[in-house]
Formats: sequence, structure tokens, C-alpha cells
Amino acid sequence: MISGLVRRLEGKVALVTGGATGIGECTARLLHRHGAKVVIADVQDRLGRTICHDLGPSGDCTFVHCDVTNESHVRDAVDAAMSRFGKLDIMFNNAGVLDPKKPSLVENEKSDFERVLGVNATGVFLGIKQAARVMVPARRGSIVNTASVCGVLAGVATHAYTASKHAVVGLTKSAAVELGMAGVRVNCVSPYVINTPLTKEFFNLGDGGGTDNIYSNLKGMQIRAEDIAEAVVYLGSDESRYVSGHNLVVDGGFTVLNKGLTIFG
Ligand SMILES: NC(=O)c1ccc[n+]([C@@H]2O[C@H](COP(=O)([O-])OP(=O)(O)OC[C@H]3O[C@@H](n4cnc5c(N)ncnc54)[C@H](O)[C@@H]3O)[C@@H](O)[C@H]2O)c1
Repeated sequence: MISGLVRRLEGKVALVTGGATGIGECTARLLHRHGAKVVIADVQDRLGRTICHDLGPSGDCTFVHCDVTNESHVRDAVDAAMSRFGKLDIMFNNAGVLDPKKPSLVENEKSDFERVLGVNATGVFLGIKQAARVMVPARRGSIVNTASVCGVLAGVATHAYTASKHAVVGLTKSAAVELGMAGVRVNCVSPYVINTPLTKEFFNLGDGGGTDNIYSNLKGMQIRAEDIAEAVVYLGSDESRYVSGHNLVVDGGFTVLNKGLTIFG
């Protein structure tokens, strides 16, 4: 126990892509707080190293420069977990980008579309593949991917982003089917809008940290990055030992309501 908190991931090793800021940073910190040894893999070296430094001098957090679109980088990040900590229990494929220009279909450059798909979908594919390389022989492991409410709904973000997040949900299910035969679980989390460097300008969220100006179904509270981190801790822990192929939507009910046709409110 630490300050009333049960350490639910004692002895586990986790790798977090996109762990230098936002949801990934918050999750890396919570995984560590729950006793996991953590590898942060990101393209932002200074921020990533600072977080590892913050997490203490014990040496149980390490940073690896990793562009998730580059297979050898992802392979090296997984190998870093193996060589430094001896195993990999939790792979959090979280790195993502959002195309800031909001192009209409006819204005959408192929290169811009492919850049988003490259990070958000191919990057997740490479993360699953490289994690499976070490988890399958170990006959255990939990892979968690970051999808989005945009993996369920359309019109909230750009075509590329929506397509990429639908791909993450599909890939999660597909990988769960194959890797389940080796005892490896694969799930995804789907956050609602959270004020991070990714969304701040896109949704004009301002500096307050809140998402007040975005429609939300659940009144009286605001979503925080910690809500996603808690979901990842659950999916990474043995508490979810029989959960696989699942999309854990963390959106306060946003995606179950059609605001234009409701008898409530
Ligand atoms: N913030 C939201 O509202 C929201 C909602 C739904 C889903 N998501 C998803 O959550 C994930 C994290 O987003 P966030 O909001 O924390 O954004 P963020 O911008 O704060 O964090 C994204 C991280 O990914 C890293 N990254 C970007 N491209 C990379 C690459 N090629 N290789 C390695 N790292 C790379 C960035 O350096 C950054 O540290 C993304 O997959 C995003 O699509 C976010």
C-alpha cells in the first residue's frame, strides 16, 4: 500500500508509447505509482527523460527514443524493456497525432491522410506486433491501445483521425483473436475529449485544462487524463484477466446518446 493505495501492478513491466505528454504521461506515472517498472517511448526526448527523472532515482523508469512509425525503433523499445527489466507485461500503444487543418475531403492531401494513419494505425500495429514477439513465447501479457470516441462515432474529428481510430478498434479485436490463443490479452481504451497538447487548439479548449465548452452527457464532472490512466491500470492488471477484445469507452456516456433525438433533457 502507498498512502492508502493498493499497488496493483507490483512486479510488472510496462511500455508506454507517447508517454512524454498528455494521457501517456499521466498513465506512465500511474502505472509506476502502482508498482510497475516503466519504459517511456516517445519522439520528445527531453520531456520523456524529465518524467523518468521525476519518477525517482530508483532506476525503475527508463526513456527510449522511439518513432512508432519506424519498426526498428519499436523493436528496440521492446528490447529495452527486456534487457533492462527482463520481461514485458503491459504494452500501452498510445502515441497519436491529430491533423490540425481539419480539411474537407477534397482538400485532404494524401500525404496528410497517410501521416495520421501512419502514427495512429500503423504505429499501433507495430506496437502490437513487437509486443507479441516477446509476450507470445512468455504465454502472458496485456496489450492496451488508445482508440477514441472517434473509433465509434464520425464527425468529431478529421477523416484521417476517424479512420485511424476505427482501425485501432478493429485491430484490437483482430489481434485479440490471434493472441488469445497464446494467453495474451488485447484491449483498447476510447477517451472522450481531454485537454492535452493534442486537442487544445483543435477544439479551442483554452488554458484552463477543462473541456467545458465541449458537449458532454455526464454533468457535474469533467473528464481528466487520470480517468484513462485508471482504465489502463485495470486493463493491464490481473483484475481484468478474462477481458480481451474489449473497447473500454471512457466518455461519460457521450457515444450512447443521440442528442438530436432524446426524450430526456
Ligand atoms: N486528448 C484527447 O481528447 C483524446 C481523445 C481520444 C483519444 N486520444 C488519443 O490519446 C492518445 C494520446 O493523446 P494525448 O491527448 O495525450 O496527446 P498528446 O499530444 O499530449 O500526446 C501524444 C504523445 O504521442 C507522441 N507522439 C506523437 N507522434 C509520435 C510518434 N510518431 N512516435 C512516438 N511518439 C509520438 C507525442 O510526442 C506525445 O508525447 C492519442 O492516441 C490520441 O489520439 C486523445
